[in-house]
Amino acid sequence: MLVSIVYMSRAATPFDDAALTELLRGSRLRNEALGVSGILLAKDGRFMQLLEGPAWSVDDRFAAIARDPRHGEVKSLVREDIERRRFDGWSMAYRSLDDSDIAAEEGFSPFLADGVDFPRSFDRTSAAWLLKWFRDRELHDR
Ligand SMILES: Cc1cc2nc3c(=O)[nH]c(=O)nc-3n(C[C@H](O)[C@H](O)[C@H](O)COP(=O)(O)O)c2cc1C
Repeated sequence: MLVSIVYMSRAATPFDDAALTELLRGSRLRNEALGVSGILLAKDGRFMQLLEGPAWSVDDRFAAIARDPRHGEVKSLVREDIERRRFDGWSMAYRSLDDSDIAAEEGFSPFLADGVDFPRSFDRTSAAWLLKWFRDRELHDR
């Protein structure tokens, strides 16, 4: 049984390019080892992440992530059973694409910069709606 979850959180400390690259590399290695795919969006000090894979591995990763002191206000938004994966691997999208170092990193997704559209089968799901909402909205600080 495959599941897909989406959560949102707020960065506890500012993440610069180096911190994001480190997060990207470590997460890709662990997610790949556990069969977890998905996407992490980072923007305006917030994160939205979709994780998908076998329930045990998604729950394992989400539990580790939720404990991470580098972010807080971790809120789980949707959890659904899926028949097949919607993402090939695990990637990260970061707003400042001008910083070409991170844009050249393997696993970097252009989703936030130029609105890559999802496959139709995924497009109508609540998870896709949430990712697009995050992409298109200005997330101001309270
Ligand atoms: C916003 C955010 C997203 C993260 N995403 C992942 C992820 O997808 N996979 C992962 O293994 N770790 C991710 N991490 C790192 C984990 O929180 C944690 O540091 C890492 O899994 C090591 O913890 P562990 O030794 O308990 O597995 C993320 C951290 C943050 C702050």
